[in-house]
Amino acid sequence: MNLVKEINRRKTFGIISHPDAGKTTLTEKLLLFGGAIQEAGAVKSNKIRRSATSDFMEIERQRGISVATSVMAFDYQGRKINILDTPGHEDFAEDTYRTLTAVDSVIVVIDVAKGVETQTEKLVNVCRMRKTPIIVFINKLDREGKDAFDLLDEIESKLGITVTPLSWPVGMGQRFKGVYSIFERNLKLFRPHGKQDEEDVIQISDLASPELEKHVDPAPAALLREEVHLIEEVYPPFDREAYQAGDLSPVFFGSAINNFGVRELLDCFIDIAPTPLPRFAEEREVKPLEDTFSGFIFKIHANMDPNHRDRIAFLRVCSGVFQRNTNYLHVRQNRKMKFANPTSFMAEKKTVIDEAYPGDVVGLYDSGNFKIGDTLTEGEPLHFKGIPSFSPELFRYVNNMDPLKTKQLNKGLEQLMDEGVAQLFTREFDGRKLVGTVGALQFDVIQYRLMHEYGASVAFEPVNLHKACWVVAKNDAALKEFSARRRQDIARDKDDNLVFLAQSAWTLKMAQDNHPDVEFHFTSEY
Ligand code: G4P
Repeated sequence: MNLVKEINRRKTFGIISHPDAGKTTLTEKLLLFGGAIQEAGAVKSNKIRRSATSDFMEIERQRGISVATSVMAFDYQGRKINILDTPGHEDFAEDTYRTLTAVDSVIVVIDVAKGVETQTEKLVNVCRMRKTPIIVFINKLDREGKDAFDLLDEIESKLGITVTPLSWPVGMGQRFKGVYSIFERNLKLFRPHGKQDEEDVIQISDLASPELEKHVDPAPAALLREEVHLIEEVYPPFDREAYQAGDLSPVFFGSAINNFGVRELLDCFIDIAPTPLPRFAEEREVKPLEDTFSGFIFKIHANMDPNHRDRIAFLRVCSGVFQRNTNYLHVRQNRKMKFANPTSFMAEKKTVIDEAYPGDVVGLYDSGNFKIGDTLTEGEPLHFKGIPSFSPELFRYVNNMDPLKTKQLNKGLEQLMDEGVAQLFTREFDGRKLVGTVGALQFDVIQYRLMHEYGASVAFEPVNLHKACWVVAKNDAALKEFSARRRQDIARDKDDNLVFLAQSAWTLKMAQDNHPDVEFHFTSEY
């Protein structure tokens, strides 16, 4: 059957890293292999360079790039690979968390000199929670860096994952000679700037063979034998099932800029990475092979042109086949919708598609109907899980500076919140609106976009809050009593859920201690 064939040839993944570790460079090399781009430099870095130009220009530049690189699809050896872009900047971390709900596996890029950095830790945490299979690529071996064993220890302890190296470096920096593939038992010699040819790969099934000394000096050859021996003693052997269950992460070494170790990574990836996995809806598990179509929106991108209010909603297909011009149920709105121009992305090229399969991401033009987390089906009322809102940590009051534009302001705020730029809370007792974010840059984004896209002018007023947490209770009376006692600190989120605005860690603790029947949640999904 066509559906089985299409599902089995798909791999949908994300590349995650701390900024500057080499995510963009690696993405570009992968696209080059897939023929999706022809030359280096085609994939623009989506890094926010705060100092380069004014912040606003930078935000717009970044938005332009991020729509172009949201999904990069290409064919390689008969497989269809979908790379979902994840912003590296920490202020956009929520965007990345949500994108991680739409992938089936990830590649984590680590800079050999810097080791595990904060952003990598946060993102891998989310992967671990979701049991997403992880492959680690240690990059920049052409530079001096940390000792490979120390690095593996650091990865295990900081990221909380179990690793097994599938390749091993021979030297690094000036002395970098290449990598020995433990997976394929061959030695690949390093030539800078991507000048690799077939002769550079030497099969050495048994490392004891004197063949090794023909290519590597005696001292590094002896060290390689010793280290590979140690690896085989200390690390678990590679196990596909353990990897796919998220319990074991293979590690590769290379240099993305020199295109070294990238093909090995890609070849191994297409061999071992999972094909599209089932997704969980509140009602039941949804398997890709089911006949009927279903999917969810994990990202919404506003149009760059302020004259056009339309947006692109990114849908991950979860089951069945998505088809153009076919009526689907928009579950939250309980109404049928069809799409005349569903779009797929091929690096920088956009094309209208007729159909899409599980694992694919489709761009749907939207005039304001979608919110992040929305589900489309052929009729079944499913609600996909796993798109949480995280408890924001920075808060400001929104002050309307132009009362004549109140309608525009409300519309703009609503749409930006649907896109997931930030979270809006309305305090119950005085109706004041507060915006909560995970990163300070979001306030600039909101202010700028409200002005440029909606003609509304706001000023943000600082407010000292520790955390917003969602409150529920099995016992209605307990919740009522809590709300009444804490009247000043109670707000509603955009979906009308009850939220407690804790002024400090201490007030939060007091509230928890004094109201044992009330549950306090730090993500909106519980
Ligand atoms: P990111 O998307 O993870 O933020 O990283 P990006 O690929 O933009 O790479 C960050 C910097 O690291 C870039 O240098 C890039 O050229 C360099 N780089 C990537 N891979 C390697 C590697 O294998 N070896 C070495 N030595 N450097 C590598 P830049 O100077 O910041 O930018 P550019 O001027 O080169 O574009």
